[in-house]
Amino acid sequence: MTSRSYRIGVIPGDGTGPEVVREGLKVMEAVRSGFKVDTVEYDLGGERFLRTGDVLPQSALDEMRGLDGLYLGAVGHPDVPPGVLERGLLLKIRFELDQYINLRPVRRYPGVETLIPSQAEEDVDFVVVRENSEGLYAGAGGSQRTNTPYEVATQESINTRHGVERCIRFAFAMANGPDRRGHVTMVHKTNVLNYAGDLWTRTFEQVAEHFPDVDTAYVHVDACCIYFLEVPQRFDVIVTDNMFGDIITDLGAMIQGGMGVAAGGNLNPEGVSMFEPIGGTAPDHVGKGTINPIAAIAAMQMLLEVLGEADAANRVDQGIRFATQKMASMRAGMMGYSTSEVGDLVVEGATR
Ligand code: IPM
Ligand code: MN
Repeated sequence: MTSRSYRIGVIPGDGTGPEVVREGLKVMEAVRSGFKVDTVEYDLGGERFLRTGDVLPQSALDEMRGLDGLYLGAVGHPDVPPGVLERGLLLKIRFELDQYINLRPVRRYPGVETLIPSQAEEDVDFVVVRENSEGLYAGAGGSQRTNTPYEVATQESINTRHGVERCIRFAFAMANGPDRRGHVTMVHKTNVLNYAGDLWTRTFEQVAEHFPDVDTAYVHVDACCIYFLEVPQRFDVIVTDNMFGDIITDLGAMIQGGMGVAAGGNLNPEGVSMFEPIGGTAPDHVGKGTINPIAAIAAMQMLLEVLGEADAANRVDQGIRFATQKMASMRAGMMGYSTSEVGDLVVEGATR
């Protein structure tokens, strides 16, 4: 019976990563039907680095190129200097596998409360298409005369026509698709970042000509933050650069219900993509069973969508909605449920 089969790399990583990845895999097993999944687990992250000095061995990276997808928990460790794991592991995978889109849906599930009482559940439903391969993240720059009074540090934003255009095209194609409302907003800071902003603006306008059915808008990134709180309904698809996308999706997470529910995908539409909850390692929650696994489960849903397993993905969505509603009706949020109980609720909702 089973004809389709996938090899998925799993990187539980640090902090609460392993706890939430376990729930995502549990849900995937529950909805899996008509296809097979072999997981390849990678021991990567802070513990491995402290033990062996390895961040991401070349052999692991090479093997990842042959997989059908990657599922990541979180990376970052209090005893590892900042940047080692972020740049050496997470960003290295994004860059080496050319995962040039960071797709972050901002959707509010039923029953989930947020800090903005004036927003209704249906008001928050958009996606951020974050450029994921260049910008300030490219690592261009340097420092000289370090630790002297004459020290200088530069950090340059790299924007290529190719990189910007493929990102903007992706956003337009998505807005044109069946699940969206045909509207793209570019978010930038063109009034100050004149060189990069100019390239982005011209590319945006030129790509827009190929999508006559898609409406467009532009907002500065600072104003975008206000609109997230005041009129999130104005957004359908947002396209923006790497750094702005990083920042606004944390705010986006807050209007969808917090880091515990926000998922993202690092996509290479022609290659290997990686899915992750965007909340990080959550040190306060480690080992307590109090971390919300919904974000990681929603990341699993995105992975299934990209694999083409739409039925399984839809069932995960149904399961998440069942779970968030159930938790709300208990009026306890995560307080009343452990990480694995939330995973069980999703399974229950997904398999009804
Ligand atoms: C994210 C994270 C990463 C980023 C860090 C951990 C490098 O904040 O995925 O949003 O800045 O992209
Ligand atoms: Mn971030």
